[in-house]
Amino acid sequence: MSRFSGFYKKNRQERIALLQQERSFSQESAEILIQDKNLPESIAGKMTENHLGTFSLPFSVVPEFLLDGQEYSLPMVTEEPSVVAACSFGAKIIGRSGGFHSEILERLMIGQVALYDVPDPQAALEKILAETESILSLANQAHPSIVKRGGGARQIQVDIKDQFLIVYLSVDVLEAMGANILNTMLEGIKDYLEELSQGQALMAILSNYASQSLVTARCRIAISSLGTSAALNRETAKKIALASQLAQVDTYRAATHNKGIFNGIDALVVATGNDWRAVDAGAHAYAARDGQYRGLSTWTLEGDYLLGQMTLPLPIATVGGSIGLNPKVQAVFDILGHPDARTLASLIVATGLCQNFAALRALVTTGIQAGHMKLQAKSLAILAGANEEEADTIAQQLRKEKHTNLETAKQLLAQLRDKEKEA
Ligand code: HMG
Repeated sequence: MSRFSGFYKKNRQERIALLQQERSFSQESAEILIQDKNLPESIAGKMTENHLGTFSLPFSVVPEFLLDGQEYSLPMVTEEPSVVAACSFGAKIIGRSGGFHSEILERLMIGQVALYDVPDPQAALEKILAETESILSLANQAHPSIVKRGGGARQIQVDIKDQFLIVYLSVDVLEAMGANILNTMLEGIKDYLEELSQGQALMAILSNYASQSLVTARCRIAISSLGTSAALNRETAKKIALASQLAQVDTYRAATHNKGIFNGIDALVVATGNDWRAVDAGAHAYAARDGQYRGLSTWTLEGDYLLGQMTLPLPIATVGGSIGLNPKVQAVFDILGHPDARTLASLIVATGLCQNFAALRALVTTGIQAGHMKLQAKSLAILAGANEEEADTIAQQLRKEKHTNLETAKQLLAQLRDKEKEA
């Protein structure tokens, strides 16, 4: 039996202690988790403008997650009930079949300078390409520190789209997400590109469509591990493959399919202090790369196995932005065992695939409401005004009701309190 079995039934302190024991993170990180303080004004007030205070969200963990032969615990920040439970459930099943495997072919971030009013776009395109070396060198001069650390500008590409001549710059940003590095370099080459093209630069900006930072996660699940009945297991696997096919051909389903994937991805990306809007924007662009918006993951049957696969552009960082500022993010990296940007990117894609597996398994078997509402019931009880002691009782009663909604939760709470008064 797993060391983490029944993890969710422990109290918060017990979970932190077990996690620290298993993942060997520092006492300082354990204290950050135990004390659970908000960001101090001295930090929060400098991160954004017109600061009023801080805004909390639940901080949770998927205790065991197997990627490339190594076990991790995944910190997650999400407001939605059942996401963490579902990912934990999926990770357990997939872990028994050898876990996830990842592949990254390259990791370059892309930015663009868009030029307009170019008198002869084709001649300008050729002139710019002929000056590739001097453009790369100018870009590197604009941000020498990344070059010193081993990164820097690597390629340019030029394209004519409608009335625009667009120059794309690819940069190795090492462990950073690269927004500042790219933007500085692009602004550094803008004037030279205007001179070469005889046109005007409309803008110089990083692209969140990180198509040269593709990360693939795969898993191979033994169909026998999907449940206790061989016949039902095969049926479930077949239906998961069908659900994946549905998300390829129907945009309505693709959007929801991908939302389920982002339940896990965003929760981990937010916990690591990364820019989740950048990750989401890039992935949705990738989902529509052939002109139709499609499901990002695919599930297929191969003999006695269900094969899952997902590739995403992943502009992710382990340094920079708010990462060094937020003590909880530091604790998150400690729990994760300080992965480099490539490993973190792999973990994020695998988390999305895992979350997707759990949602599809639920959808094609019991339906989503059984598991989701079981966990939503507690939130509804609290929303109805129940205190911590009352919440468990109300949640249990709610699950037996026909309508698991706020109105019913309020009625049950009123009945419970009436009974207590009478007693
Ligand atoms: P279950 O069969 O009742 O779970 O499923 P179980 O009690 O047998 O427990 C199995 C394991 O699940 C546990 O292992 C835990 O790892 C985990 P154990 O520790 O016992 O060895 N687990 C929990 N972890 C933390 N807290 C809990 C908890 N309960 C179980 N309270 C479960 C219950 C929720 C896992 C299942 O029904 C499920 O996976 N449902 C899917 C829920 C889901 O996907 N929610 C996301 C929100 S819905 C949505 O937004 C997306 C969607 O629209 C996307 C789409 O359409 O594709 C669905």
